[in-house]
Amino acid sequence: MNTSKEATEFEIVDIGHDGKSIARPIGDNSKVAFLDRGLPGEVVLAKIYKRSRRYDRGRVTEIVKFSPERVEADCQHFSICGGCSWRDLGYEAQVKYKRKRIIDSLERLGGFEDVKFNEVITAERTLFYRNKMEFSFNVEPEKPHGFSLGLHHQGEFAKIFDVEECLLESELSNQILSWFRNYVIENKLTAYDVTNHTGYLRFIMIREGKHTGEIMVNIVTTTSEFPDKAKFVAEFTKKFPQITTITHNRNDRKSNIAYGDSEEILFGDGFIHEKILGRMFRIYANSFMQTNSYQVEALYKLALKSAEFRKTDRVFDLYCGAGTIGICASEFVKEIVGIELEESAIIAANENAELNSVTNTMFLEGGVRETLREKKQELKSADIILIDPPRAGMHPRAVFHAAQFGARRIVYISCSPGSFVRDATLFRDNGYQLKEVTPVDMFPHTTHIELVAVFDPT
Ligand SMILES: C[S@@+](CC[C@H](N)C(=O)[O-])C[C@H]1O[C@@H](n2cnc3c(N)ncnc32)[C@H](O)[C@@H]1O
Repeated sequence: MNTSKEATEFEIVDIGHDGKSIARPIGDNSKVAFLDRGLPGEVVLAKIYKRSRRYDRGRVTEIVKFSPERVEADCQHFSICGGCSWRDLGYEAQVKYKRKRIIDSLERLGGFEDVKFNEVITAERTLFYRNKMEFSFNVEPEKPHGFSLGLHHQGEFAKIFDVEECLLESELSNQILSWFRNYVIENKLTAYDVTNHTGYLRFIMIREGKHTGEIMVNIVTTTSEFPDKAKFVAEFTKKFPQITTITHNRNDRKSNIAYGDSEEILFGDGFIHEKILGRMFRIYANSFMQTNSYQVEALYKLALKSAEFRKTDRVFDLYCGAGTIGICASEFVKEIVGIELEESAIIAANENAELNSVTNTMFLEGGVRETLREKKQELKSADIILIDPPRAGMHPRAVFHAAQFGARRIVYISCSPGSFVRDATLFRDNGYQLKEVTPVDMFPHTTHIELVAVFDPT
């Protein structure tokens, strides 16, 4: 195979578990490469940037033979943006490949048989569906104003390009971004430099309650007061009266994260609300909230239906975040016990229960593994367990402990088919059989896919 400087011709043979394409160099069956683009049946030119003994990794430079499933990308930034890698693939085809990936992972890697694989619950809105976007600052001396503000370049995490129009959140979010970029230029504010750890502005985050119309702008900087903040707020809210709150989060960490070790509310209440399945939820600058406000209703509806609740049920909501699933489930059962690591999410969960006049929920702060182990006596038993872990999935001992509570059904929501296969195998080893899997497309035009799985005792 050629060196990384020259492009080699590859045939795409499949889509891998992380959404990358699996390719073979034409005329050479000895080794596969994972490429950033490409669809089964296509022939592409690609440059390899990383080699290992078993496989290589590469970047497609040209598509030589196109799949009929390709469409023209609708986004002006598509060729460089690291965000939506499937904007040039028809929506039906996106969904087909996402479903196939889940089935392949479970059958081939997990050896699961006799599982009912349902069709994908597709998204009605494939444009402007996100309720949150984070745009990063980057120092770039060659740019006219010395910085860029936007999203990451595909495959180059350290590089940011200026977003003019992103099709993920809203027209308003694009206008806010553009106004803020100009404000920074006119007022000579500095961007944070990740290499030298100098400068000020790290991120601007824009959150929208899609069902409430409330808008939050959160500016993340290093630690010092926002310059001329009264003037900034006055100008910003005059231009955008739709903004209901502006927060300023600060951290001096070397790693560039959109999180505040301290927060100042510059305008409004410091939170917004979103309505999901008729319930109101409070969202703070640093709270977790499912990012597709439309499709989350389909996801939760499915999870609740799959649980087949009885009015007498005691339900565990593991990795409960701000209590959203548990609060939506509360009217169908006797009691909900939520467990969550983040203190701020537990505070939000209690507030959300109160906001919705829900009185049969209890939220415990702590790791799932530790809490299930240490509070075994106190927690007694569960009839149904709802599980919605982060991308990395569950700790093996968390699976072990969850399986000890005698639940007659476990409903597992996963945003990562890879970690789900591992956890499903662990549940199988601990006496639970995987019965049914339904993919839910929360992120059209990306390779991500969510799923709802049902386990019953064997
Ligand atoms: C995918 S989110 C789900 C949140 C919530 N169920 C929802 O739908 O909004 C995962 C949550 O797990 C929490 N978390 C991560 N590791 C945890 C652990 N070891 N124990 C408990 N919670 C954890 C995160 O803080 C986050 O709120």
